[in-house]
Amino acid sequence: MGSNDFYTKLSDSQEAFAFNSVLLRPGKAVIEPKDADISTNFSKSIRLSIPFISSPMDTVTESRMAIAMARRGGIGVIHRNCSAEEELDMVKAVKRAESFIIRDVVTIGKGKTVKDAVDIMNRQSISGLPVVEGGKLIGIVTSRDVRDEDPSARIMDIMTKDVITANESIGEEDAVKQMRKEKIEKLPIVDKDGNFKGLITYKDVKVKGKYKSALRDSDGRLLVAAAVSPFDIERAKMLLEVADQLLIDVAHFHNTNVMSATKRIVKETGKPVIVGNLGTREGVLDAISELDEGVAGLRMGLGSGSICITSDVTRAGSPTLYAVSQAAGALQELGAHNIPVIADGGMKNGGDAALAFAFGADAVMFGYVFAACYESPTPILDIEGKQFKKHRGMGSKAARERGAIVDRYADSGGKKIAEGIEMLVPYKGRVDDAIDELIGEVKAAIGYAGKTDIAGMKSTEVLRAPQREKK
Ligand code: XMP
Repeated sequence: MGSNDFYTKLSDSQEAFAFNSVLLRPGKAVIEPKDADISTNFSKSIRLSIPFISSPMDTVTESRMAIAMARRGGIGVIHRNCSAEEELDMVKAVKRAESFIIRDVVTIGKGKTVKDAVDIMNRQSISGLPVVEGGKLIGIVTSRDVRDEDPSARIMDIMTKDVITANESIGEEDAVKQMRKEKIEKLPIVDKDGNFKGLITYKDVKVKGKYKSALRDSDGRLLVAAAVSPFDIERAKMLLEVADQLLIDVAHFHNTNVMSATKRIVKETGKPVIVGNLGTREGVLDAISELDEGVAGLRMGLGSGSICITSDVTRAGSPTLYAVSQAAGALQELGAHNIPVIADGGMKNGGDAALAFAFGADAVMFGYVFAACYESPTPILDIEGKQFKKHRGMGSKAARERGAIVDRYADSGGKKIAEGIEMLVPYKGRVDDAIDELIGEVKAAIGYAGKTDIAGMKSTEVLRAPQREKK
């Protein structure tokens, strides 16, 4: 398309609806909403138990959020506004979180200091470190051991030397029994020669049985996705050793340099990637034509996020519902029904998600909603008796100053423009509760629409309601 007819440019233009100007047209309910099936696809190879994804933003998804998301059956995409090593550590922390015997254990040497131990524990969100020398277990330090110690004290002087261990053949039940009897939280695994082989933690074993719809790989580890730049093939290769899905994270994927760089990543790794953000039919068709089977999913929406100012400062954008419908239409044209469409930006509740499904989305990505939760990476702020968390656009000045994210946005040649803002969001509490609320809203919406599942929602009719006031 493209119009040079200036008389009709506006009258020929398509309409891009905002979430609060459309409604789902109700239909005859054939099931109770609680029985609606909300499982769906995130990528060609990953099926979710719930249709929610946390956004790759540094105020939203680090390991703590990704663990919480996967436990509920959604997925977190670890952000890339950090070094490759830091991102890899976050991905590894998710993979470690619930395996029965953790293999990739973070350890410490006896010559290190208490301060080193505290730094590692904080960075990796863990509460204990086996002390290993020459492959053998010689002690253990926990956060309790180091709490009141001099930061410069040596690990060998404060570690517990008489460590209770088990061997690799131990089962879950016996491990729990032993940890209870000995009143310990961590049970290191050693072979008959004392070589350190892994670690069982009480918390992980207990939590494992709690989340029935958690997303796990064949080894029982939680699933996690990671964001990468199309121009950083080394980081992509490194992350793919551990992450379950890569997502190419740029503001405007429909760009020849971005597409050809992504093609190289797919070719060299042999793994399909989720691509985005895209906003138009042509973008989707070009991406699929360039990458062919390399497209694992489509992240749709441009400039509609809560912290986005792209469409204010550039007056370009593709509101999420429009973007989603463009992707769904393009996939229909191609008969490519196995590529999931992810709606991204501007959604505040399950009703917004339900509208996205009606316009052709398979899953929805939230930044704002999850940034407000306990598990997001930022501290809770107390301001005049009210609690808040910080949320910021990855194109905001502050996010760009962190350095690694700069290539998410195209180089316009001059001064780097800010395409995002910083904001405070009212603190919402645990993400588990936020997810319960979203599930309730999505299921109720499916009920009103008279459908039974997410795929069925795609045939829901919609009503224009442009006069609707925002409540
Ligand atoms: P919500 O509304 O859920 O949106 O917070 C999250 C999505 O917003 C996108 N994003 C940005 N868009 N400038 C933009 O135009 C930015 O600085 C920016 N940072 C994030 C991104 O797609 C995210 O998932």
